[in-house]
Amino acid sequence: MGFMTIDGRKVEFTDEKNVLSVIRNAGINLPTLCYHSEVSTFGACRLCTVEDDRGRTFASCSEEPRDGMVIYTNSGKIKKYRKLIVELLLSAHCRDCTTCVKSGECVLQDLAHKICSFPEYQRAASFRYQLSCSGS
Ligand code: SF4
Ligand code: FES
Repeated sequence: MGFMTIDGRKVEFTDEKNVLSVIRNAGINLPTLCYHSEVSTFGACRLCTVEDDRGRTFASCSEEPRDGMVIYTNSGKIKKYRKLIVELLLSAHCRDCTTCVKSGECVLQDLAHKICSFPEYQRAASFRYQLSCSGS
């Protein structure tokens, strides 16, 4: 058992295996794409990245909780980082939301709508399409 400070709030943890679980148990909805608590931890999408009080950023799904940790889930640095990751993920797949079967039930699409302006979303989503899907 221990305590950590998340976004200025003291939070107790017991046997959670990673910082992400502590964050979620505290009622904070940190977006993730690759984490499945019952399976293994991939640490691939980096969307769960948080910042500590020394400015270090790390994937919260891959970090064990430690007593006395101080972390921020929504600092300016983290917001910028998350937006960049969403844009990179959008640009890295050759899909069009308007014709995609996942449209309306897609975490990435939801995040894009929340985080990016519409032109940024369009630009990121079409970048890969222009590069790789148009016959090149
Ligand atoms: S709905 Fe989701 S998976 Fe489908 S194209 Fe849009 S972002 Fe990609
Ligand atoms: S949830 Fe994907 S890296 Fe942590």
